[in-house]
Amino acid sequence: MSSRKNVILIGFMGVGKGSLAREVLKNSKYMTIDTDDLIESMENRKIKNIFELEGEEYFRRLEKNVAKWLEESVQNTLISTGGGFYKQKNLKKIGIVVLLDSPFDAIIKRIKEHPNAAKKLKKRPLLADLKQAKELYDQRRPEYLKLADIVIDVTDKSAEECAKEFLKKVKKHG
Ligand code: S3P
Repeated sequence: MSSRKNVILIGFMGVGKGSLAREVLKNSKYMTIDTDDLIESMENRKIKNIFELEGEEYFRRLEKNVAKWLEESVQNTLISTGGGFYKQKNLKKIGIVVLLDSPFDAIIKRIKEHPNAAKKLKKRPLLADLKQAKELYDQRRPEYLKLADIVIDVTDKSAEECAKEFLKKVKKHG
């Protein structure tokens, strides 16, 4: 494990970063924070609203501020991130990078099968057009893989199974 002892979860929208973090929390010493939640509380408004009123560039600047704070001030924490947070230049300085990986179609299926599917789709501006979202996925996936210290294939696995695999792999990574 890095000296900072943070673990940072990256991966495409809807892959289950938040669910995994909450599951890990039940069975380990970690505390968790989520970069989107931090941004929403900093701004006192929803991500969707920030995108609509201020644009994506503004949102990415907020992510950059969060990344700087994480690097300087946060330790021993499991950090889940928005799907585009991996672009932050200091990502690897924040902690061990764990990628939750799954094919695009499986991610969309996972979202659509969720009891709150409509809400899950609506809150993510970059999922509004599935063709564009697939292009974004194809562009990002190799970049995610390049940054990852650990990869967890979450396809057709429960949050519990993923959490077990996560804890085993992070322990092994040291
Ligand atoms: C984004 C992913 C979202 C959120 C924002 C932008 C992205 O988070 O940060 O809508 O660029 O992939 P989730 O990955 O939690 O959906």
